[in-house]
Amino acid sequence: MDNKLKRAPGVYLAGFMGSGKTSVARVLADRLGWDFIDLDAEIEAAEHVTIAQLFETRGEPEFRRIETEALKSVMRRVDRGMPSVVALGGGSFVQPVNKELLEGRGISIWLDCPFETIQARITEADSRPLARDSEQFRSLYEERRDAYGLATYRIDADCEVERAVERILGLPCWK
Ligand code: S3P
Repeated sequence: MDNKLKRAPGVYLAGFMGSGKTSVARVLADRLGWDFIDLDAEIEAAEHVTIAQLFETRGEPEFRRIETEALKSVMRRVDRGMPSVVALGGGSFVQPVNKELLEGRGISIWLDCPFETIQARITEADSRPLARDSEQFRSLYEERRDAYGLATYRIDADCEVERAVERILGLPCWK
């Protein structure tokens, strides 16, 4: 197994909204016998509100601050030796502060998915605040690709969940 994974047994799934992070993380965690953690769900449980309400009442910068705190708390659990597959939020990996936190601690995987597939999965009626304006949604997709590209690995996630999990299990970090 990869040394980074031996030191901190955390796999962090990054990628745009609708790329399948939560579904893939859940199945991958099950296959590995590791814990499954969804960063957005952690935030909602800690703050007792939905992500949409958090954006609405406190704004995106405050959401980002809370997101970083939630990531730190999850990483502490992983560092203490609790093997976990973590589904990040779509913007988490893009924030330099979070990227720095993740540097060398476990591995990150970008679930890369074409915009057309994302669009088919997520409509403007979606509860995600950043998906409401379709033009903004598309430009965010383009803007973030370089940042996602800094993940340890990239997999093609334009497929069924099981297939994406197989692709992850085929990565060299498990050998
Ligand atoms: C966001 C993605 C969402 C959630 C929030 C912001 C983003 O997570 O964290 O709405 O900035 O891309 P998902 O990627 O799980 O939808």
